[in-house]
Amino acid sequence: MSGRIPRDFIDDLLVRVDIVDLIDSHTPLKKTGTNYVACCPFHTEKTPSFSVNRNKQFFHCFGCGISGNAISFLMNLNNLEFVEAVEDLAAFAGIAVPRESNTYQVDEKKEDLSSLYQLMDKTTNFYVQQLRSSEEGKKAVEYLKNRGINSDCANEFLIGYAPNEWKALANSFGQDSLIKAGLIINKEDGQVYDRFRNRIIFPIRDKRGRTIGFGGRVMDNSLPKYLNSPETSLFHKGNEVYGLYELLKKNSKPPRILIVEGYMDVISLSQAGVNYAVAALGTAISQAHLNLLFRLSPEIVLCFDGDKAGRAAAWKAMEPIFLSLKDNRSCRIMMLPQDQDPDSLIRKEGLTNFTQRVHAAQALSDYFFEHVSEQLNLSEMEGRAQLVGKAKPYLEKLPEGIFREMMLSRLKTTSGSTTLNIFNNISTPQKVFSEEQPPRKAAQSSARSAKTAIALLLQNPRLINNINEQEIDWDTLDIRGIELFKNLQQVILSKNTINTAVLIEHFRNTVDEKLIKTLASSNLYVSEDNIDMVFADALNSLLKQGKYATIARLQAKAQNQGLDINEQQLLIKILATK
Ligand code: GTP
Ligand code: MN
Repeated sequence: MSGRIPRDFIDDLLVRVDIVDLIDSHTPLKKTGTNYVACCPFHTEKTPSFSVNRNKQFFHCFGCGISGNAISFLMNLNNLEFVEAVEDLAAFAGIAVPRESNTYQVDEKKEDLSSLYQLMDKTTNFYVQQLRSSEEGKKAVEYLKNRGINSDCANEFLIGYAPNEWKALANSFGQDSLIKAGLIINKEDGQVYDRFRNRIIFPIRDKRGRTIGFGGRVMDNSLPKYLNSPETSLFHKGNEVYGLYELLKKNSKPPRILIVEGYMDVISLSQAGVNYAVAALGTAISQAHLNLLFRLSPEIVLCFDGDKAGRAAAWKAMEPIFLSLKDNRSCRIMMLPQDQDPDSLIRKEGLTNFTQRVHAAQALSDYFFEHVSEQLNLSEMEGRAQLVGKAKPYLEKLPEGIFREMMLSRLKTTSGSTTLNIFNNISTPQKVFSEEQPPRKAAQSSARSAKTAIALLLQNPRLINNINEQEIDWDTLDIRGIELFKNLQQVILSKNTINTAVLIEHFRNTVDEKLIKTLASSNLYVSEDNIDMVFADALNSLLKQGKYATIARLQAKAQNQGLDINEQQLLIKILATK
């Protein structure tokens, strides 16, 4: 009945989901350097040899040798067929799986995510340019100055300005893409106009620094004060926080992360030296937010305004917090004084005092029991019974572990019930991770150039841009392993969206699958900064080797049987470029 799943969809899916999130939801991962590790879910072991790489979107176990992308992970974990795994992965990402019709090709409106990312980037630059160089942008600069934001900070956060025009973007970029990106609004009469006009623009970036949405603030008291991008295929408010990319750039392993309410809070805190704050995007804090942040830091401090709305928001956060609080994760609640937000407070009392407040923030357990006990008379049995009734639904949400045990025990003590038996489950201890790194393969002392070039290109498909096609006539050169390298180049060029996972997917069930996986997981010991250089070196020596081999072959042939005209020209050409 249903047709094939379009290849492009699978590629996009592999670019959109984060394998770290996927695997972490089954097997909790621990960050070590650039990788995440855990005890391998596919074989029994005591110390972790299972490693997941976010950039490559690839996992590999040094113990049992199993490796692959997000689809392979699900296939192996749940014994799924390929299609089932794709469907599960799409469900994990919250998207439907399209099907090609069997009888005719449906022209699926293919979402080209990479072109959307590019558009978002161009728009970010456009807004920044408007702020910095346009006449109109001066009032935005003035506004930021008045709010005490310096230019370094504005640059860091790529703050921009959307001009007071109906079609600044609509006239500059393609309308279909602008609509998909949520940047222009389509009226019923078919007219379009820019969503953000005459506003300060805050680009919202994902962990990898790609702009996925914008927030825009008016510069006066008009309403609405803030506009945000709508949900798009790139932007899902409930999953994203503002300022995370900027935070991780300064602090890849923050000991704690502070969640505040507003864009301006994040920016102003960062400028003052609090480089570990992010903001939920005008939505309530979700479990997805917390899981995202807990993967990066063991402690989250939730900061709320001291007014009624802030207190309500704090209590509302309890449910997602309780659901995400595994052992080794902790939360604190920081209530600000009345009429202050982090922006105003840090300006008023400075970094040291503000930092002290963060450190002194109330432990979650204290906050929780204080709140559930409010307005109850615990000196009476009735009050204590109400306490149990109020607390129990929350404590039940806590994952099994020491924290849950302790909260339960505190509830028993506070309610004075020694016979309390509201949880029937016996807790099982959580896995504890060893600090040890997975064993590394010994560096291959004489990695051959072809292998290095293929592995680097596979692990960093962006390097395709470093290959100067005109200069290299691969077909004329005698190089072993070059077929695969050429093939890989073609695959990369043929894809709309690309990462290592997509490439591995392409080679599934081919003769090269095994080699590709081995090269994808091989550690080349090349630092991020040197990748381009090492790749260029590998290409050069590959070329050199290829030329020498070709020259040798042609010269031998010339002596034995002579060269035809094409071979003669080739030899002359190669000798000339040697
Ligand atoms: P400033 O007033 O510039 O200091 O901004 P703020 O970040 O302190 O704003 P506020 O505390 O009023 O709001 C906190 C967050 O809620 C903002 O950063 C927005 O994400 C969101 N928000 C506030 N007002 C609006 C609004 O009118 N519409 C939408 N969609 N979101 C809003
Ligand atoms: Mn504010």
